[in-house]
Amino acid sequence: MAVLIDTTGKSEARAICVRFDNKPDALLEILHAVQKADGYLADGPLREIADALNISRAEIHGVVSFYHDYYRTPPAKHIIKLCRAEACQAVGSEDLASYAKSKIDIMDNGAGDAVPVGVADVYCLGNCALGPAAMVDDKLFARMTPEKLDAIVTVLIENRS
Ligand code: FES
Repeated sequence: MAVLIDTTGKSEARAICVRFDNKPDALLEILHAVQKADGYLADGPLREIADALNISRAEIHGVVSFYHDYYRTPPAKHIIKLCRAEACQAVGSEDLASYAKSKIDIMDNGAGDAVPVGVADVYCLGNCALGPAAMVDDKLFARMTPEKLDAIVTVLIENRS
């Protein structure tokens, strides 16, 4: 079977695969390393990984789409992760997520700049007793409200660089 490989990109995917001895068992670590190098997981590097590890692109797609920490497009500079699991749902996370996404949509309709803040769904941040739980970049927030969210987004945008 022929495999098309985009060798025109600047991806370090091949070198990263070699660092892990081209072992399929190291797929998660390889994906993390490629994402750290490139910022996200583009088609070209994923094809290179599939070829190097001798696994199908469908298998890689399954892994990448299963884990929420992999990005298929360049991510926003700051990511607000909102917990959508049961305990947080019971205290209003669904309404909070709708509010957050409508706010981010408004930001996305700006003057063409890259979106500074994005929203992502996660399923349990380990802070179930203090929901709705959120994580902004690497900082955990408890009992998130629309007002707190607005304040956080304002700070993130003001500190944009
Ligand atoms: S269910 Fe939301 S932090 Fe666990």
